[in-house]
Amino acid sequence: MKYSRIAGTGSYLPKKVVTNEELAQKVDTTDEWIVSRTGISSRHVSSPEETSSYMGYHAGLHALEAAGLSANDLDMIIVATTTPDKGLPNTACLLQERLGITNIPAFDITVACAGFVYALSVADQYIRGGMMKTILVVGVDVLTAVTNWDDRSTCVLFGDGAGAIILQADDKPGILSTHLHADGRQKDSLYIPTWLPGQRKEEELSYIHMDGREVFRFAVKALGQVVEEALAANHMSQTDIDWFIPHQANLRIITALAEKLKLSLDKVVITVDRHANTSAASVPLALDEAVRDGRIQRGQTLLLEAIGGGFVWGAALIIY
Ligand code: COA
Repeated sequence: MKYSRIAGTGSYLPKKVVTNEELAQKVDTTDEWIVSRTGISSRHVSSPEETSSYMGYHAGLHALEAAGLSANDLDMIIVATTTPDKGLPNTACLLQERLGITNIPAFDITVACAGFVYALSVADQYIRGGMMKTILVVGVDVLTAVTNWDDRSTCVLFGDGAGAIILQADDKPGILSTHLHADGRQKDSLYIPTWLPGQRKEEELSYIHMDGREVFRFAVKALGQVVEEALAANHMSQTDIDWFIPHQANLRIITALAEKLKLSLDKVVITVDRHANTSAASVPLALDEAVRDGRIQRGQTLLLEAIGGGFVWGAALIIY
């Protein structure tokens, strides 16, 4: 078994939907401003019960079902999240407990909005290395819980959700390659202050802080480079891509990248209009939606990318 391949996908979205019009009643904004600058019309917002482990669990169950497997078939659980239920135990352990299984490794990785691509890369290495056969990979975040609802420049951008895949060992590819990058010099462009009470300055609230223009500028450049890197590593060109599944942060970033790749928008999976930016969940949520509605078919070539606070970013080329 030389490769890992996606055996099933799943997702979960909170029940509550908040529209731009509803936000415009709370902060000084308009539906027209939000749609024209971001492409976002609405977002799902978690209830206190819809934590990362809860949403990840439901997404994971859907992915197991789609793969025709049960929780007992899993060798490992990796959860990408920046919004864990607790400081400890990690979210993957809480999800494992919800699944009713024990004794397999379960850990989180904190790579902001790029978390799913990073987690996919880690899972792929474990499977290619022969240590594991079946891994549940979840991307989940509850960014609305760390959103300042009085700050119009950030509160319009984020939503909650979870996406999951089952990655399994296979003789055929599968994950062709993953490409990861980070640049810690950009730590002040997008961050959440510490939530450790003992290390928090009195005046500092643990909300998302963002230099929107800098994030936008960096994202278009870095994502453009990493998708080209992924194509070159596989001796492929844009014409080989059946579906582009980008991080769903802003429709203008997605459009700029699609233009750079010379991909028509009907080859791009877009959910940002209804989901907003769900951080680590954004790519697997979009993947699951397009698999379930029949757009993505077995054997097709997928290009995934994501970027998050750090900055951290990456891409993956996949035969579905
Ligand atoms: N409604 C109305 N006006 C708003 C607003 C809102 N929700 N948010 C900001 N504005 C105002 C600003 O205050 C500013 O007003 P001013 O010119 O009087 O100071 C004006 O709109 C323009 O702000 P600007 O920051 O130039 O807008 P922009 O075109 O850069 O769009 C973002 C702002 C945030 C949509 C855009 O920069 C962006 O999407 N960046 C990337 C964010 C992102 O993807 N983050 C997550 C990455 S993982």
